[in-house]
Amino acid sequence: MEDFISIHDLTLYEFHEILDLSRKIKKYPHRFRQSLKNKILAMVFQKPSLRTRVSFEVGMLELGGQAIYLAPADIQAGTRETFFDIGKNLERWVDGIMIRTFAHENIIELARAASIPVINGLSDLLHPCQAMADVFTLKEKKGNLAGLKLAFIGDGNNVCHSLLFAGAKAGMTIAVATPPGYEPKEEIVKMALEDGQTTGFKLILTHNPEEAVAGADAVYTDVWASMGQESEREIRRQIFAPYQVNQALMSKAAPQAVFMHCLPAHRGEEVTDEVIDSAQSIVYDQAENRLHVQKAIMLLLMGKK
Ligand code: CP
Ligand code: NVA
Repeated sequence: MEDFISIHDLTLYEFHEILDLSRKIKKYPHRFRQSLKNKILAMVFQKPSLRTRVSFEVGMLELGGQAIYLAPADIQAGTRETFFDIGKNLERWVDGIMIRTFAHENIIELARAASIPVINGLSDLLHPCQAMADVFTLKEKKGNLAGLKLAFIGDGNNVCHSLLFAGAKAGMTIAVATPPGYEPKEEIVKMALEDGQTTGFKLILTHNPEEAVAGADAVYTDVWASMGQESEREIRRQIFAPYQVNQALMSKAAPQAVFMHCLPAHRGEEVTDEVIDSAQSIVYDQAENRLHVQKAIMLLLMGKK
């Protein structure tokens, strides 16, 4: 593993290695305090962030290293200079790069240029750190991932795509319910199905949220308009209204079902207060686990080989 750009790129061994190491780091954080001593991570952000920014920076500090936050206006990636040149410069000073950007190709270009590890902190296409933290959280709660059914309700977006890849590696059933025209990308679906051929992965694609949620062990949703789609927010609010995760929809899931969301949430849109604040909700556990899982990813990429 040289970069962490897509869960699709991981071998099954690497996928489970990340989950196992995350568990150890969460349980015994003090054992890893020097693991990335004197290492420096550059964090390139073209979009806002709470969880990704804080969990990567705290993660580096807790592993004995440091992180440098580069805000959108600082380096004006893609405008002031190319992602290729940013990679060629950063590799001379730091040990790893985490990037949050719009076009996924920007990350590919950066990784092609930089000889140091590159971590995808979200693109328009994928959000792999989120999905790894999500399956780690599910594993903590349910004991085992294989055979679990996760229903993703809403937009077939970056989070949905990475959950498909994670579910494929883990041998889960993923049921995605979107409005017509907002399905996950065909290309991603095809790749996930290939990844899941040997794992017991099952995929359900529907436009009916109740069908997706039926008997699900986890019900997951995300905002209807992602970062960069702000101008579509009003129209999407109307189109996605039937896809709100509320108590009525949750009642169709398995009795012990959990509610999941990557956050930030638009309460009252994709999820009601009643659901996100309920005892079934594990959204803050997901957020906490970003820290432990990303520490594992950074250690595997930047630690002693
Ligand atoms: N879930 C997530 O990535 O949150 P941020 O956008 O705040 O980083
Ligand atoms: N789909 C959302 C996820 C935010 C963490 C977005 O891209 O804005």
